[in-house]
Amino acid sequence: MVRRIGVLTGGGDCAGLNSAIKWVTKTATDPNLATHNGEQLEVWGIREGWRGLIEIEPGDPDSVSRWVTQLDELVVRTWDRQGGTVLGSSRTNPFNPKIDKGQKCVENIKAMGLDALVAIGGEDTLSVAYKLYHDLGQKVVGIPKTIDRDLNGTDYTLGYDTALNVITEEVDRLRTTAGSHNRLFVVEVMGRHAGWLALEGGQASGAHVILIPEYEFEVDKVASLLEKRRQAGVRYDIVVVSEGAKIKGQDEVYLSDKVDSFGHKVLGGIGENLAKRLEELTGFETRHVVLSHIQRGGNPSARDRLMGRYFGIAAVDLILEEDFGRMVAYREGHITSVSLKQAIERLALVDVDKFYDPSRYNGRRSSLLPWSRRDD
Ligand code: F6P
Repeated sequence: MVRRIGVLTGGGDCAGLNSAIKWVTKTATDPNLATHNGEQLEVWGIREGWRGLIEIEPGDPDSVSRWVTQLDELVVRTWDRQGGTVLGSSRTNPFNPKIDKGQKCVENIKAMGLDALVAIGGEDTLSVAYKLYHDLGQKVVGIPKTIDRDLNGTDYTLGYDTALNVITEEVDRLRTTAGSHNRLFVVEVMGRHAGWLALEGGQASGAHVILIPEYEFEVDKVASLLEKRRQAGVRYDIVVVSEGAKIKGQDEVYLSDKVDSFGHKVLGGIGENLAKRLEELTGFETRHVVLSHIQRGGNPSARDRLMGRYFGIAAVDLILEEDFGRMVAYREGHITSVSLKQAIERLALVDVDKFYDPSRYNGRRSSLLPWSRRDD
């Protein structure tokens, strides 16, 4: 029987994490639930993701207070309004062969008396959760988060809506200065493999050209789309480019060759490169802006607060049902769950045929035809 739940946040922070932690805590420690089970559940927050679970020395009180903290309704009361994660995060991978700490996690879970673990994260964090569950028999459930919205098996991941709103607001701001100076602005947004943020952020903010990782683009073609606009009388333009977008035949652009514990290099620079090339080709005065971590910051939108709440409650439901190895999910308008295996087996990328128009380098202008034509 589950008595003590651990909760952690891993990977890149984003808005909505604190709401999920709050609602895991409030649901698990709800006095009505105690009446149901005859026993009150406890929730312990683990600091800095998997790092906390590796670093903690359960016999040392200083180490325990450094790496874990008990959560209750009063502690988490105001958390849902705050961005980031109060528990902290890291990109630590216990299964990286260089550190090989999977077994240490298991020992610490046992030593801290954690009967179940809620891992809030994206593909990397949840791949660790899956290994702990599948290979090492731990009772783990997941909550999906990533501003990239690229986790399989769910239509929503925490942080996405807030990031989308940031992009829309920032591009709105850029429009006034772009217009005043007749300038072209290239705005680089996040999205390592998936172009959802660029595509939907670009559409919401009315960008003329949107470049996504799922479709390699030609710089000459971007230039000619922009020239046509000027000829039509438009004085300035906005191009939104995903950090993972590639010029045809070339690789992604990286800030450095350093890799993190999951083997990822830091992307960045495509916006600057593209701005230079477009200025050369078109002669339009061009600037670039990298929105970078601003997209992950700020207070959560209403949607992220609500989804954090619904996901947090559902994670406790899974634990009470003893339905481990699963990730809570949002599919076709409902809260549900999928296996962790399904969540991490592939990334949910933009389906170019459905959503992207390569002739315009922008969103498709047909929703019902021809790909979804009904035959009946
Ligand atoms: O969490 C996903 C993400 O925001 C990606 O869009 C981006 O490439 C990456 O994280 C940046 O990571 P870091 O915070 O480690 O620089």
